[in-house]
Amino acid sequence: MHFLPENIDEYVVAHSENEPELLQQLTRETYQKILQPRMLSGHYQGRVLSMISKLVNPTCILEIGTYTGYSALCLAEGLKKNGSLHTIDVNEELVDFQRKYFDLSPYGNQIHQYLGNAMEIIPQLKDTFDIVFIDADKENYASYFELVIDKLNPGGIILSDNVLWSGKILETKLKKEDKATSALKAYNKLLKEDKRVETIILPIRDGLTISRKKKD
Ligand SMILES: C[S@@+](CC[C@H](N)C(=O)[O-])C[C@H]1O[C@@H](n2cnc3c(N)ncnc32)[C@H](O)[C@@H]1O
Repeated sequence: MHFLPENIDEYVVAHSENEPELLQQLTRETYQKILQPRMLSGHYQGRVLSMISKLVNPTCILEIGTYTGYSALCLAEGLKKNGSLHTIDVNEELVDFQRKYFDLSPYGNQIHQYLGNAMEIIPQLKDTFDIVFIDADKENYASYFELVIDKLNPGGIILSDNVLWSGKILETKLKKEDKATSALKAYNKLLKEDKRVETIILPIRDGLTISRKKKD
């Protein structure tokens, strides 16, 4: 879904940074070989993630939901020289694909993959983070927030993807089985009301929230 008129959207993309060649290649191979290729962040959102990461210049990043590694590579562009990015995905069929592209990039040694359910892996992580990117199962967004907030450094940010959910967050009569939409509505409310963070939703692609942890 385009939240902007299509011609404005095209103009915005045309006047923003180009997509790096490696990410174009990753996108092509994802579309050829992997199910649900629309899940990857893509050119424009990827450049937004890269820009945010470069502005923050993080020492440590956590990503929840690696898929084929597109957003991990974008976020890694902003890492400090000795920084690291931890990325979690439950789908074991994606591990080799991710590693291939991480190793083709300049960030291969800085990116650490974790295979398994993020709800179980996050509590085992010892690091604290300057950026957390939440982009996995929507029903668990609020739980991920609670798991990572104490591991987020003061001034650090949580980025949450798909928070507008193709506009479905406006629907008032939700089907009982539509758990993702109800979870995202509750999550957006939680971020707005939680006193530990200040939050802004960017109407980029499917909606991207930045929540900054207050310093005290
Ligand atoms: C939207 S995709 C991530 C896209 C990726 N961040 C990007 O922008 O290129 C969501 C991913 O979350 C993973 N996932 C879903 N539930 C999960 C869970 N409980 N723990 C870890 N990963 C999960 C899926 O396997 C899928 O690869």
